Amino acid sequence: MTPDDAVRQALCTHMGREFAAHFQYLAMSAWLAGEGLPETSGFFGGQASEEHVHAMKFLQFIVDTGGPVEIPAVDAPAAAFASAEALVGSALAQEEQITRWIEDLVHLARDHRDLATEAFLQWFIREQVEEVATMTELLQVVRHAGPSLLLVEDYVTRWKPTRAR
Ligand SMILES: [Fe+2]
Ligand SMILES: [Fe+2]
Repeated sequence: MTPDDAVRQALCTHMGREFAAHFQYLAMSAWLAGEGLPETSGFFGGQASEEHVHAMKFLQFIVDTGGPVEIPAVDAPAAAFASAEALVGSALAQEEQITRWIEDLVHLARDHRDLATEAFLQWFIREQVEEVATMTELLQVVRHAGPSLLLVEDYVTRWKPTRAR
């Protein structure tokens, strides 16, 4: 069944947020690279790639259910951060916000009796649990490391394979 226009518009809006998250993670990756933290930069580059995949899942779903796809304007991401801890803290806040938006979309789909959209969103409900857990853990590690960010580099190097899906 084709989503009604309110649901389609909400899906387009959220697709834009996933593209915004893609750009935000790219900006974070670039800032970390500039700080001389290549492994942590690479981790955020990987996060950026995941967000692009998320946005494309929305795009394809909107196409598959009849469209039209309307890609919203994306605000410029934050480019400067007070510290690595502030950066990871804002990444966690971003993931928590996206989780709330995904949950709102599920409630909207239910209100509109839109089972296809609700089923599509279930993957994102599970994905956000992992995203929030990952960023929570990284924030804890950064806090444990204190000023010794090379410990974070070492941690991320060993952590990446265990998180690979
Ligand atoms: Fe995402
Ligand atoms: Fe994410």
